[in-house]
Amino acid sequence: MPADQPHGASAASSLPQAPATTAAPAPPARLAQAALRDVPWEIGVAKPDPAIVVDGVTRTFGGLTAVSVDHLEVQRGGITGLIGPNGAGKTTLFNLLTGFDQPNAGTWSFDGRSLGRLSPHQVARLGVVRTFQLTKALSRLTVLQNMLLGAKDQRGEGFFRSLVPGVWRKQEQANTEKALDLLARFKLDAKKDDFAGTLSGGQRKLLEMARALMSDPKVVMLDEPMAGVNPALTQSLLGHVKDLREQGMTVIFVEHDMDVVRDISDWVVVMAAGKVIAEGPPESISQNQAVVDAYLGAHHDAPLTVEEEDQVLAEAEAAIAREEGTSGEVLSSDGTDREGTQR
Ligand SMILES: Nc1ncnc2c1ncn2[C@@H]1O[C@H](COP(=O)(O)OP(=O)(O)OP(=O)(O)O)[C@@H](O)[C@H]1O
Ligand SMILES: [Mg+2]
Repeated sequence: MPADQPHGASAASSLPQAPATTAAPAPPARLAQAALRDVPWEIGVAKPDPAIVVDGVTRTFGGLTAVSVDHLEVQRGGITGLIGPNGAGKTTLFNLLTGFDQPNAGTWSFDGRSLGRLSPHQVARLGVVRTFQLTKALSRLTVLQNMLLGAKDQRGEGFFRSLVPGVWRKQEQANTEKALDLLARFKLDAKKDDFAGTLSGGQRKLLEMARALMSDPKVVMLDEPMAGVNPALTQSLLGHVKDLREQGMTVIFVEHDMDVVRDISDWVVVMAAGKVIAEGPPESISQNQAVVDAYLGAHHDAPLTVEEEDQVLAEAEAAIAREEGTSGEVLSSDGTDREGTQR
């Protein structure tokens, strides 16, 4: 190209294009991580583009403070993992944010709009939906009927339905089509006419997630979506959670399995005894001393699992065997040796 070529459309088209205009847009996962890259790992830290903002929310049950969150911001378009030992207040916080419970004090908002004192239905209409730790699929309704209950605008309800049945039918048809599309995505379409009560635990979790999407939410809060799900379904559930982010939704999810948390979270918030005790990217969490202490403290209070009990027994047996091997003596159960000498 001659050096004196005038700048114009034809010249511009023959010049190498700037990468920003030719490269495909970065996937949402990368964007969410990039947006959070420079955010300090501090409790209550401001996010570049918060979708949910919580201020001074407390909820007590009798003398117990289940939730006491000073300030929390949830970045739009990312996956935020909410973790913490049993009883930390994760489910209670979800209940408060989605109108299923009311706090003693505090404010919280979505896109700058207060969600305080709204019913779950009103919160859902604004675009914030949740699923439950214990699934709430209605067993005596079919899978498809469960889905239709999740639709945002039941325009056919009430007198309007009887006045303008044509409009209602059109909307019902659109909702049914949407439900069938979602069921296909979640591989539940073959089950559409089965009662929800006949589904496996994992399929019920999928149904709940699919139903939550019927209202075109902007924020999806998932309370232990993988719990009780068999390993064959876990991967597909994880894929669905990542898909929500790809579609531009903001996801908050509660999960106990740290491998899963590390795999899919852009940011992790840790709760213990009602408070946020740490937040940061997944890699910041496992080295955080407050987090380690919270889990250890909780673990000591928790009953042992069968496996842990077996391990404790095995270690005790090994210690006894070592004792026998070294001293050649066996202690009786009252701590004396065979001669009855107190040890
Ligand atoms: N309706 C209620 N009445 C009384 N106490 C409650 C109620 N709901 C929750 N709590 C208590 O509040 C605390 C927080 O419970 P929450 O269910 O929010 O914890 P969580 O972090 O979701 O635990 P998990 O990991 O076991 O699901 C617990 O001590 C719990 O017993
Ligand atoms: Mg819970």
